[in-house]
Amino acid sequence: MAGSAKSSLEALDSRCERDRHAHVERKRAEKVWNCGMESLTLHHDTEFHHHYYWYHRSAISWAGVSSCGLIHTEACRKRWVFFVIGVKRGIGNELTDRYMKKVRVFAPASIANMGCGFDVIGLALDEVGDILEITMSEGDGLTITNQSGVPLPEDIEQNVITPVVRAFLKKIGQKAQIDVTVCEKIYPGSGIGSSAASSAAAAFGMNELYGCPLSEEEVVMCAMEGENLASGGYHADNAAPAVMGGIVLIRGYEPLDIIQLPVPGNFYCAVVHPHIVVATKEAREILPKAVPMHDAVRQWGNVGGLIAGLYSGNIGLVGRAMQDHVAEPYRKSFIPGFDELRAKVLGAGALAMNISGSGPSVFALCDHRTCAEAAGFLMKKHFDSLGIGSEVYVVKVSNKGAKLTGITI
Ligand code: HSE
Repeated sequence: MAGSAKSSLEALDSRCERDRHAHVERKRAEKVWNCGMESLTLHHDTEFHHHYYWYHRSAISWAGVSSCGLIHTEACRKRWVFFVIGVKRGIGNELTDRYMKKVRVFAPASIANMGCGFDVIGLALDEVGDILEITMSEGDGLTITNQSGVPLPEDIEQNVITPVVRAFLKKIGQKAQIDVTVCEKIYPGSGIGSSAASSAAAAFGMNELYGCPLSEEEVVMCAMEGENLASGGYHADNAAPAVMGGIVLIRGYEPLDIIQLPVPGNFYCAVVHPHIVVATKEAREILPKAVPMHDAVRQWGNVGGLIAGLYSGNIGLVGRAMQDHVAEPYRKSFIPGFDELRAKVLGAGALAMNISGSGPSVFALCDHRTCAEAAGFLMKKHFDSLGIGSEVYVVKVSNKGAKLTGITI
């Protein structure tokens, strides 16, 4: 059964390559299959001494049940026990409260702005991201243990996870002892949504622990608390794609109105992270408080063009529209040789090259992997020639957002 849920997801994956709109359907199916988990363990003090044989979510997802399966108990060797975890809002959360103790969650890296969409457009990247384990027990407190090998602030008040967990608990009116382990972490300051990946994983993981009492938008709102700590602003253009996957438009912030956009098949990003320090706060503070009318006109023309290009699958239009007249003119001074590099990368066939979020990373959007690899090579060579070390990622634009990879009940 789990296999069949997986194959229907794989079938949708291949449809996504051909059909720009299939991603919406895939997203629904992914929610059902969201227990594409690497692990499932049962809490030691449960009455079961057990092996689990299979589990899946889809069988009774129509009833709002988030996870179910069969356990073969050792205590009663021949008995199979049907179990249910995480009954969703409206059906009842008590089972979740009783059984979910720990989750392991992944949230992807992301690229904010996509050129013209300052603070309102972002996309999720495949495979690269943060992994957290979150344990809930009785009490009232928070600990964060860093096992990622990436340096993080020791003071938990400076860690983006802290305001996210607090906002979540406040929103649902609960107290608990929450212990978070950071297992894998994107390097902070890399410009591919490092703080958003942790914030999204924390918000999504907390919601799963409690049986999904919050909607996706509310999960994004909790994740934005982490973004506010990191950058001094409530923006969702990294947090929303990290939670929801794909390319998203934040149509409005008050109230939050998030729209998922079609992701053309075979969209690849080459992202280069030059070893230059650009703090998001500083990169925001450098921006003027007002935008001249002629720049605003060019910018909203581009935002409209980008959306039209994504819906119609006109990738030439997508590339043309990814021009930023609002933030880039101020921020490109942080990135040596930015204009010259862009000319080279566009010459190699990339659709567009822009600053990733607030930088210092830059990315090239391409419509196939070979082009993205060539763009990545050029970008690395550019920084090498300036004596600046860099890392390059060539990654597919992903339809997948935050997901559970393991639970303990
Ligand atoms: N939209 C934000 C900015 C993203 O450009 O400042 C920060 O990563």
